[in-house]
Amino acid sequence: MSEFKAVKISDRVYWVGVVDWALRNFHGYTTHRGSTYNAYIILDEKITLVDTVKAPFKEQFIARISDVVDPKKISYIISNHAEMDHSGLLPYFVEYVKPEKIFASPMGVKALKEQFHWDENVVAVKDGERISLGNTHITFYETRMLHWPDSMFSYLEEEKILFSQDAFGMHLATGTLFADEVDKCVLEYEAATYYANILLPYSNLVLNLIKKLKNLGISPSIIATDHGPIYRKPEDIEWILSSYESWAEQKPQKRAVIIYDTMWGSTAKMAHAIADGIAREGVEVNVLHIEGAHRSDVATEVLLSGALIVGSPTINNNIFPSVADVLTYLKGLRPKNLIGAVFGSYGWSGESIKHLREWLESMGVEVIGEVGSKYVPDTEILNRCRDLGKEVALKLKELCKT
Ligand code: FEO
Repeated sequence: MSEFKAVKISDRVYWVGVVDWALRNFHGYTTHRGSTYNAYIILDEKITLVDTVKAPFKEQFIARISDVVDPKKISYIISNHAEMDHSGLLPYFVEYVKPEKIFASPMGVKALKEQFHWDENVVAVKDGERISLGNTHITFYETRMLHWPDSMFSYLEEEKILFSQDAFGMHLATGTLFADEVDKCVLEYEAATYYANILLPYSNLVLNLIKKLKNLGISPSIIATDHGPIYRKPEDIEWILSSYESWAEQKPQKRAVIIYDTMWGSTAKMAHAIADGIAREGVEVNVLHIEGAHRSDVATEVLLSGALIVGSPTINNNIFPSVADVLTYLKGLRPKNLIGAVFGSYGWSGESIKHLREWLESMGVEVIGEVGSKYVPDTEILNRCRDLGKEVALKLKELCKT
C-alpha cells in the first residue's frame, strides 16, 4: 500500500500532487504557510497526467500516482506551465514513463526545450484545440503571461474541470485539499497575497481572460489549480472569479497603507501621526514598519488599499536601502489607481522626500502631499502629519464615491 494517497476529485480525476510544508520563499515572495504543487491524473482510455511537480518531490509524486495507477500506463502528459515548480520533474518523468505524447502550448514547447536543453518531441497545441482521451475531451486555452508566456488552461469538458495552473491559486499548504475545508479568512488573505505578488502586473490580461471564459460559456464545476486548495463549491468558484475581477480592476478603495523605516524613531512618530489623521476620518489604515514586514506582505496591503504613503529618513543624500528594496519590488508589480504621500525626517540635507516623491510618481501614484521634519518632529510637524493623513482620507472618500 502506498504511503501517499491520491485524492479523488471527480469520477475520473485524482489529485496526485505534493504538499511543500516548509516552503518559505518563492522567487522573493515570502510564503508563510508553505505551498502545494498540484498535479492530476485523468483515468480514461488515454491515461493522462496534468503537470508534474518540483523535482525534489519525485518519490512522493510517483508514490501518489501509484496509489491509483501504474505510472508506466500514462499515455499523455499535459504541461500547462513550464516553470520549474510544475515542470521540474518532467524530463525525468518522461524518461521513466515514456508516454505516447506530451502536450504544451507553442510557447510551452519552446520554453521546455530551452529550459531543459531537451530534444523531446512535445506536441504544440493551439488556443481552442481539442483532443480526445477516449470517453472525455480536453480543450486547451492559451493564457499568456498568467503566469509565464507559455501558460495555458486545460478544460476537461465532460467533468467541467478547469485545470488552471498558476491562475486562481495560492501558496498555502493544507492537510485538506478543498477550498471549502479551509478557514475562509486564511483563504482570502492567501489568495490576495498570491494575486498581489504573482499576477498583479498582468491585471489587464486577467480581465481579458475572465471575459474570454464568459464568452466561451465555460462555467467550471471544479477549478483545479496548481497551488493551494481546489474549488468545488459554486460559491467558492464565484468568489475566486469575482475576487480576480475586482483585484484586476483595482478600483479606488477606502483604505490606506503607510510603510516606513526609521533611524532614531522620528520617521516612526510621523507615520503614527499620519495614521491618526486618517483614522480620525473613519478610513481604515495599516502601518507597516519595514523592519517587520516583508516586501511581499507590503504588496498584499497595497493591493487592498487606495493610498500608499511612504516614509524614509535621509541617509547619504538618499532613502533607506530597506525602503528602496520595497519600492523596487512594488514598482515591478505595477499597481494602479493609487493616491499617495511621502514623509521623513532628516538632520541636514533632507533629500529622501524628493526621492520618495519621484519613486511614487514613476509608479503612476498621484502624490497629494508631503511632510519633512528636521530632526525630531515637534507638535507643529506632527499636526502637519495629521493634516496630511486627513487630506489622504478625504480624497479616498471622494474617489470611492465616484
Ligand atoms: Fe507555479 Fe509560475 O509557477
